[in-house]
Amino acid sequence: MAHPNGHAVELHHVSKVYRQGAIPVRALDGVSLRVPAGAFVAIMGASGSGKSTLLHIAAGLTTPDAGDVSLFGQALQRLSDDELTRFRRERVGLIFQTFNLLPTMTALENVGLPLLIQGKPLAHIRPRALALLDAVGLSDRRDHRPDELSGGQQQRVAIARALVHDAPLLLADEPTGNLDSRAGKDVLGLIRDLARQHARTVILVTHAPDAAAIADSVVHLADGRLVDGLTGQ
Ligand SMILES: Nc1ncnc2c1ncn2[C@@H]1O[C@H](COP(=O)(O)OP(=O)(O)O)[C@@H](O)[C@H]1O
Ligand SMILES: [Mg+2]
Repeated sequence: MAHPNGHAVELHHVSKVYRQGAIPVRALDGVSLRVPAGAFVAIMGASGSGKSTLLHIAAGLTTPDAGDVSLFGQALQRLSDDELTRFRRERVGLIFQTFNLLPTMTALENVGLPLLIQGKPLAHIRPRALALLDAVGLSDRRDHRPDELSGGQQQRVAIARALVHDAPLLLADEPTGNLDSRAGKDVLGLIRDLARQHARTVILVTHAPDAAAIADSVVHLADGRLVDGLTGQ
């Protein structure tokens, strides 16, 4: 995707402190990270190291306490809440460990949801959702609801949903965490192949060393700090 500075994601000295409990938790501590457009980056780190916080900040779902976040050259703090919501819906596809499918909707309806939310006409949504279900090998499960699908199949539906609206940035938070090793491998291969095919930028948060092995580069988080990798500036 063409844009002025060639970076899909730029975090500059980003910090986040959670103050809900008696003791404030510094989840991110001055993280700077640049992800070139089209790159596939894995983020690894122990539980509690700040991986999900980093991903949510990159998605514009969480606002940092300090620092700057830009996606495709757009500084997120310059956007109003409404603009940020629209920007996120258009630019970001999210994949979660727990799939997050709507239980009352069929696989096809779940995949089409991002387009429905964008107000696209049904005549556009249906063929597009079917094409993505086909791409993840689940055309024959289009009318199944999530509880009628295996974990691996549910995650494939979630991958189709994350890609259906052509968002240039794909963010995945431990997408294989609830899958057995075979289904996990399938899901990772699918994310890699589809991301390549559709020229998406991917940030994958993971524990799995084999997941990190399919990435172009790996960065490590420890106690809210990046310990190596693409630390820009
Ligand atoms: N909403 C929240 N409120 C308070 N503390 C939080 C919240 N989310 C995360 N934390 C804390 O921030 C730290 C980093 O969490 P997280 O980003 O979820 O790490 P990871 O995804 O690497 O396990 C942890 O110590 C966690 O307990
Ligand atoms: Mg997490």
